[in-house]
Amino acid sequence: MVDTVTLIYGDKQIELPVLRGTEGDPAIDVSQLRARTGMITYDPSLANTGICQSQITFIDGERGILRYRGIPIEQFTAKPNFVEVVWLLIFGRLPNKEELAEFSELLTENELVHEGIKYQFQRIPVDAPPMAILSAIVTSLAFYHQQFLAVEDRESIVQAAARLISKVRTIAAFACRRSQGLPFIYPDPKLRYCANFLHMMFSIPYRQYEITPEVEDALNLLFILHADHEQNCSTSTVRLVGSARANLFASCAAGVCALWGPLHGGANVEVIQMLERIRDGGLSAEDCLRHAKDKDNPFRLYGFGHRVYRNFDPRATILKAACERVFAQMNRNDPLLDIARKLEELALADPYFVERQLYPNVDFYSGILLRAIGIPTNMFTVCFAIGRLPGWIAQWKEQHIDPTSRILRPRQVYAGPPESRYVPIDQR
Ligand code: CMC
Repeated sequence: MVDTVTLIYGDKQIELPVLRGTEGDPAIDVSQLRARTGMITYDPSLANTGICQSQITFIDGERGILRYRGIPIEQFTAKPNFVEVVWLLIFGRLPNKEELAEFSELLTENELVHEGIKYQFQRIPVDAPPMAILSAIVTSLAFYHQQFLAVEDRESIVQAAARLISKVRTIAAFACRRSQGLPFIYPDPKLRYCANFLHMMFSIPYRQYEITPEVEDALNLLFILHADHEQNCSTSTVRLVGSARANLFASCAAGVCALWGPLHGGANVEVIQMLERIRDGGLSAEDCLRHAKDKDNPFRLYGFGHRVYRNFDPRATILKAACERVFAQMNRNDPLLDIARKLEELALADPYFVERQLYPNVDFYSGILLRAIGIPTNMFTVCFAIGRLPGWIAQWKEQHIDPTSRILRPRQVYAGPPESRYVPIDQR
């Protein structure tokens, strides 16, 4: 194993150190490159650039491995408990019974939102996209919790994190109710995290929503599978904003905005709309593949492909099995599941997808499970955000308490006009 690599340029050469992660992945440390050579590295989509060292999540894209704090994702699926995973990600190890109970209690204490937020909702257009609402209201948590705009000690981070994790599901449920013209349902302190979200989403003032274990487990599983994914687009956004020492609320609101994009979390909505078009006869599965392969067509096979996974996305494998299980438990069927299976089969036999190593990702089957739970399509990406929040907080915290972290500030290769003269307006 090499400890350094040699960079030869012209008649000079320098040695660059090689770092190794816990699992042995090598990385050339170029942090001194510009100071020593005057050159920078060029990596436009950051596909070859590590921006930090992190102890939170490990992914091996070639082998389809995903681990939270060292624990394989598959091991969280038997009796899924999202709050346990939240604690693990943010605090670095599995909680004991007392720690879990204490943190759950803190979530319960913080489940209400300030009444001012309720009035904010009344000013939002009924048809406003829920992701726009979520980012705006997460930012505005800073109005009401100004004591957490600077958090330096562990206890303040715990308190700020608990407020965000707890209130996000109340905000999400209120956003959904607002879009449906339904009254807000307040959280019920007797209910667990996911059950409480389902209650706020689906109860009505005179009838309590009946929570079944299979639906509660399915939601726990969905949130767990989305809980962290190392330096993806929204998490890197949270780190970028947080590196300026921006507060946790502002940094996570920026993460929500990044997640909204259809190439990222917004893909779960695109997948369902694509499957619905196939079901309704507007598009065939074969058309989908043809459009996706046509470089003049912006259409993509949503829910397929991943920057890191080159074999399979373990989250998609778990979700596909969960869909089959939950539909069997509910004794129900969804034609979209059959269409998704057929589309997957066709794509996996198509040389375009095979050669490019494009496989179903987490968004391919998540929407089908969310539909089974009863979540409306416009709330899918919001559910992704609720799930991803502990990851954003854990990554923000890791960066925030690292004494060596600096403001993130990439360089560029300038490709604009050379120096030119300013021409006064009357001479142009
Ligand atoms: N449909 C058609 N072609 C695709 C797709 C797709 N879904 N994904 C990748 N390609 C093509 C891409 O155009 C490129 O072709 P060529 O080599 O001819 O130029 C080739 O495959 C390699 O692409 P890549 O470098 O692997 O892709 P990337 O890393 O730039 O982008 C991605 C990753 C996830 C944005 C992309 O695969 C995509 O747009 N997928 C559809 C959107 C989606 O499902 N997003 C959710 C991602 S997983 C959860 C999350 O992060 O939110």
